[in-house]
Amino acid sequence: MTYDLVIKGGEIATATDRFHADIGITGGKITALGTGLEADDVIDATGKLVLPGGIEAHCHIAQESATGGMTSDDYRTGSISAAYGGNSSFVPFAAQHRGMGVIETLDLYDSRAQGSSVIDYSYHLIIADPTETALNDELPTAFERGVTSFKVFMTYDLMRIDDRQFLDILTVAKTHGALTMVHAENSGMISWISDRLVSAGHTAPRYHAPSHPALAEIEAINRAISLAALVDAPLFIVHVSTPEGAELIAKARLSGAKVFGETCSQYLFLTRDDLDRPGMEGAKYMCSPPLRDVPTQEALWRHLQAGTFSVFSSDHAPYRFDETGKLANGPNASFKQIANGMPGIGIRLPLLFSEGVGKGRITLQQFVALSATNAAQLYGMDAKGSIAIGMDADIAIWDPEETRTVTVESQHDAMNYTPYDGWSLTGWPVTVLTRGARVVDQGTLVAKPGSGQFVPRRPVDMTGHPGHVVPELDPATNFGAKIAP
Ligand code: URP
Ligand code: ZN
Ligand code: ZN
Repeated sequence: MTYDLVIKGGEIATATDRFHADIGITGGKITALGTGLEADDVIDATGKLVLPGGIEAHCHIAQESATGGMTSDDYRTGSISAAYGGNSSFVPFAAQHRGMGVIETLDLYDSRAQGSSVIDYSYHLIIADPTETALNDELPTAFERGVTSFKVFMTYDLMRIDDRQFLDILTVAKTHGALTMVHAENSGMISWISDRLVSAGHTAPRYHAPSHPALAEIEAINRAISLAALVDAPLFIVHVSTPEGAELIAKARLSGAKVFGETCSQYLFLTRDDLDRPGMEGAKYMCSPPLRDVPTQEALWRHLQAGTFSVFSSDHAPYRFDETGKLANGPNASFKQIANGMPGIGIRLPLLFSEGVGKGRITLQQFVALSATNAAQLYGMDAKGSIAIGMDADIAIWDPEETRTVTVESQHDAMNYTPYDGWSLTGWPVTVLTRGARVVDQGTLVAKPGSGQFVPRRPVDMTGHPGHVVPELDPATNFGAKIAP
């Protein structure tokens, strides 16, 4: 057997195993795992870890906010940063805004991604305008195009849907085998507190944290899980920031509900004290849900360890610290006028590796599951997320011993800050492949924009998640009512 490329001598890890083997790659696929494999093109991985390329499943790339602000990263810079950070593919959002059609939205994001991305990509569809046409005609077309997950917002005035619309979306999603993702925060609580803070003159970035209390997330997660239970639909709760929210997810999962959760780098590594930096510096650390505290970090680590969270993401939402981003409403804008989100697509995996695997908090196999395998399974990326014969050769080769200091430049994104500037981390990806082609080779970008391909995804697989079909929650039996003769 001949191979296009052989990766020799490394230690391979998957979500379940660690073993030494060579990998033979042909036509972009893994075609052999064995010893003594040979090819003209060989990567010597002796002393290195050979892992499935990361899948960054929560990031905002070339995306307008509802108020018109644009992320600094496009598909070129966002994918380059992702690749340097050990990712072989990513799933940014395609954001429908009110008045836009769903297909119009997907076409727009196709035009932004095609010819630009250096790694493979798909989109989660954000639904902000669930019209009858969107629900009945356009969403089925989106599913046929392989876009099988979407996000709804319970907060943000221009994005949020009400409970009834949420039920409509959950029901359509369930019918087509799609996964509904939710940003779960109680809108009324947030706007009520925010208005009082601003009226009292408390406008600095530090007031972003008290304006988004933990209770706002807890209430919304509880409501979202309840709404999904009503129609027995799968639900994925993104960027969970509270232990109580995580406990609601764990409890729902124990009961058999089709509920999944994600937490993000910033909730494990930063705290609300970062919002309290002098002047407007705290704006760099504004995201929603907001940063919490050290006991919360510890509790979220335990939920990662215990399996409450299926996916660990960056929620890369890059707005520069200048008038194009965070300071678009002036240097004295109130916290309500500052774009939410922070960068992290290039640092998600080095953070989790160094502080998780390196410090003995999670196993290498858990790292692989949280960074690639679980996202591939949940989001229907069948050929990605593991190292096995027949899979795409999406591979990241890591030097587990290398220590580097994080700088803005080392992120290779379009940002002018990183929240992790000056952090020292051990364990870095050095070479990253997408479908067998080198994207980053020994620390140098070699892929051309446009080499990344769209990944059509299959419907969500809910095997092992029985749900709660009880008569009073079953639309098919008129919610337990007797059916008229
Ligand atoms: O603050 C954040 N997370 N901004 C990005 C948008 C979102 O809600 O995920
Ligand atoms: Zn969100
Ligand atoms: Zn987000």
